[in-house]
Amino acid sequence: MTSIIHTLLQFIGMDFEIKWDNGLRPMMVFINKEFYGVPLTGVEIGVYKGIHAKYILRKMNIKKLYLVDIYKKKEIEKRIGKFCNFVFIENSSLKASKDIPNELDFVYIDSNHNYDGVLLDIETYLPKVRKGGIIGGHDFGNPLEEVTRAIAEYVTKNNIKMFFKDRDWWFIK
Ligand SMILES: C[S@@+](CC[C@H](N)C(=O)[O-])C[C@H]1O[C@@H](n2cnc3c(N)ncnc32)[C@H](O)[C@@H]1O
Repeated sequence: MTSIIHTLLQFIGMDFEIKWDNGLRPMMVFINKEFYGVPLTGVEIGVYKGIHAKYILRKMNIKKLYLVDIYKKKEIEKRIGKFCNFVFIENSSLKASKDIPNELDFVYIDSNHNYDGVLLDIETYLPKVRKGGIIGGHDFGNPLEEVTRAIAEYVTKNNIKMFFKDRDWWFIK
């Protein structure tokens, strides 16, 4: 029931925090603890209306946040326009990667939810993450979904220790 209400409220553009820790997803909560006090440079791939981006900007110590989406929704400006520490790149994740620096502290993937799309995002952005930085994203959990299959196969094949909580997954480079 809660998740139906959550989805409906998100659909009409309202923020609803019941499922998230103060609106911040588990990977970001982990980063806040792991890199406490460090000014962070990171990326969110797949921004939609900027709901999660707003929480990243509000609740994390962000030096620069690169926000990547194929389309810039008008709601984004309204939601995060007051922050001056982000850059919106209106392009596909692959093309946008050329405009994003290396040595990133984190990359959060929540864009193309098909098998090849998730793997492409990992392979494109992992080299851009600094050693000890974190890469991960959303929608891990249901074994029937392509995101879950892609991530599970990737971490198994590469012998990676992966963390997951609720629907987030991540690992340390
Ligand atoms: C699930 S929504 C993102 C939700 C957002 N992370 C949040 O939690 O508020 C997915 C977004 O990914 C974008 N997207 C899909 N494929 C993409 C790609 N290849 N490159 C960049 N963005 C993409 C879509 O336009 C959509 O806005």
